[in-house]
Amino acid sequence: MKILSILFLVVIFLSACQTNKESVSAIDHSAHEPFRSQYHFTPATGWMNDPNGMVYYDGEYHLFYQYYPDSTVWGPMHWGHAVSTDMIHWEHLPIALYPDSLGYIFSGSAVVDWKNTSDFGMVDKPAMVAIFTYHDPESDRAGRVDFQTQGIAYSLDKGRTWIKYKNNPVLPNPGIRDFRDPKVSWNDISNQWIMTLAVKDHIEFYASADLKQWHKLSEFGQSIGAHGGVWECPDLFSLSDEQGKKRWILFVSINPGGPQRGSATQYFVGDFDGQNFISQDTVTRWIDYGADNYAGVTWSDIPASDGRRLFMGWMSNWQYATVVPTQLWRSAMTLPREVMLHKKHQGYELKFRVVKEIEDVQQEPRRYTGSAVVDNPLFRLDFNLEEAENEFSLTLSNDQQEKVVLNAKDGVLTFDRTASGITEFSADFPQVHKVDMRQITIRKISIYADLASLEIFINDGEHVLTELVFPNKPYQRIKLEKLNSQFTVYGIDSSLNE
Ligand code: FRU
Repeated sequence: MKILSILFLVVIFLSACQTNKESVSAIDHSAHEPFRSQYHFTPATGWMNDPNGMVYYDGEYHLFYQYYPDSTVWGPMHWGHAVSTDMIHWEHLPIALYPDSLGYIFSGSAVVDWKNTSDFGMVDKPAMVAIFTYHDPESDRAGRVDFQTQGIAYSLDKGRTWIKYKNNPVLPNPGIRDFRDPKVSWNDISNQWIMTLAVKDHIEFYASADLKQWHKLSEFGQSIGAHGGVWECPDLFSLSDEQGKKRWILFVSINPGGPQRGSATQYFVGDFDGQNFISQDTVTRWIDYGADNYAGVTWSDIPASDGRRLFMGWMSNWQYATVVPTQLWRSAMTLPREVMLHKKHQGYELKFRVVKEIEDVQQEPRRYTGSAVVDNPLFRLDFNLEEAENEFSLTLSNDQQEKVVLNAKDGVLTFDRTASGITEFSADFPQVHKVDMRQITIRKISIYADLASLEIFINDGEHVLTELVFPNKPYQRIKLEKLNSQFTVYGIDSSLNE
């Protein structure tokens, strides 16, 4: 009997710690299969969706992510885990959080509890705390509506092993089906933790002194913004304007209802007084006007000496994410991007640029006029438009007549991937994406091409289009049609381990 009780305790302890249950060894054989992104994050094997728990601590950028290791389609959600010192080269680590009796581990965030408010760590050895949604599939199947609750877990060893809090859930469900994706940050105005939560068609803000007990502060959004789908994966943070005044930014992902249909992320710029968020206006703005950037949020705890607000999104769309033609894994993340304020006459907007760390894998520039065939299918391509030159057409193609065309004419930017390669896996994929450019004079285009994606930055990120493509051979032919057809190409080194 005694032996049995000891065994029981050992099992309980091991499942609480969730240590190294899985070692990731698949990276080598799967690194070079077709469509494996070469300088974007992909899981070695299995299904991935949203980035989760992005936090910086002690020299490491952590990326957790929605993960189902047993299949390449969505299933019981875990938090996969990777770390990086530059957000470009990633080291895969064992799964951080496994589903348990309270449910699957849905999206959420992580913070470093510097003041040890939770008492999980010590002030000189702070805990990393993850705040996530528990999704209980059984009570969902049983027809209940209160199956999503918020739970927490902590790590005392730089995110390597996690202990779930014994009194989970910390925020029970008030009787609403969609009640998820907590993004938590420390608020200096009110000296407490703020949780930003997506609740069906609006955002709710909660506060806590210790990450364990939460009370509701306010709601935002029921009658503002895009409402073509359910609200998910919010983020709340501030950026200083040129006068040093804090402007607050609220990201809200919605699915469906994005500018290219399907999933997308809208944002609001406004004010947050520690209690309520107020938007500067009622304009709907998107962090990306392409089809494939969803559920993105920003890193927590970037040191003040760095000062950047750093973002990464899931480079897919729920319209076809589960059927894209990859074999051993599904989905990649966007490149890491810095989020910046941009003053326009109709209020503040955001600009996004790829983090400067990309330059470490970027080769010397080569200049061309009109057209080129490049050796390296991984590249950054830049060109400028002269004043009053509002039109251009750019074609990227291979020798199998597969191509994408980016075109600007009459105030509309068009991205056509109808003939981009493998497209038949979903009728929603081979589409022409249009963006209204009447408010923007295009001066500069910068495109990052990987084996299965293009990230298009207009005017240093005033508008961004992130688009998946699945050409049977990479696009290595470039053709630019415009008055002055000079362009610059920087090859990019693969950041994957050989
Ligand atoms: C967004 C989302 C989240 C949820 C997670 C489940 O893509 O639907 O709202 O937490 O994915 O995997």
